[in-house]
Amino acid sequence: MTWQATALTLFPDMFPGTLGQSLAGRALERGIWSLDARDMREYGLGRHRVVDDTPFGGGAGMVMRPDVVAAAIAGIDLAGRPLVYPTPRGRPLKQADIRRYAAGPGVVVLCGRYEGVDERVLEASGAEQVSIGDYILSGGEVAATVLLDACVRLLPGVMGSGESAVEESFADGLLEYPLYTKPAQWDGRDVPEVLLSGHHAAIARWRRAASETVTQARRPDLWAAYQAGAGQDIPRVA
Ligand code: ADE
Repeated sequence: MTWQATALTLFPDMFPGTLGQSLAGRALERGIWSLDARDMREYGLGRHRVVDDTPFGGGAGMVMRPDVVAAAIAGIDLAGRPLVYPTPRGRPLKQADIRRYAAGPGVVVLCGRYEGVDERVLEASGAEQVSIGDYILSGGEVAATVLLDACVRLLPGVMGSGESAVEESFADGLLEYPLYTKPAQWDGRDVPEVLLSGHHAAIARWRRAASETVTQARRPDLWAAYQAGAGQDIPRVA
């Protein structure tokens, strides 16, 4: 069964973009997933296909009209898929969300432009509002691309045995340990000795300790959750 992604967007040419390359692009070609970028402009009003208007209450910028967005949503078959609206006002998108989306039939991503979408259509549609970080993008398309990339790599058959989702950052609530490859000596810097030892248990201990050290230093939030025992089913951060 093909995992189905739909993007509702005013810029359909932004898709597949990077999703047409590398791992996700090969999976797209192989039919593991599909991507339908729907132009919401088609639902715009009048000869000029207007999709936005000024905010009630005043203020800068434009807001996407609820009638136009609702018509665009009505124009697709959700087929049991969640409707996701990327916005800096959303709750933080986590690897647990990605796993949930990837395990289902697919997702529909509503890509906002301008200042955003009228709140009423978000309420009425039951859209899940998610943020990919505390910064402002110029629109939802890049956030949608991030979300879809993260989902697609988890679909069965996408990652080969060479690419593991088990040991990566967040898999156990910790950031991933540092990685090294050949040459063993480079620019006066050595690879940690234990990694050359072939002693699997010692390597596992070293990696666990390194994961803990980097998580404590860089992500006190993840570290606190991990120590509280909440880190059982969370992913590590690269
Ligand atoms: N749209 C604009 N900025 C965003 C962000 N940080 N996360 C998700 N969607 C966005």
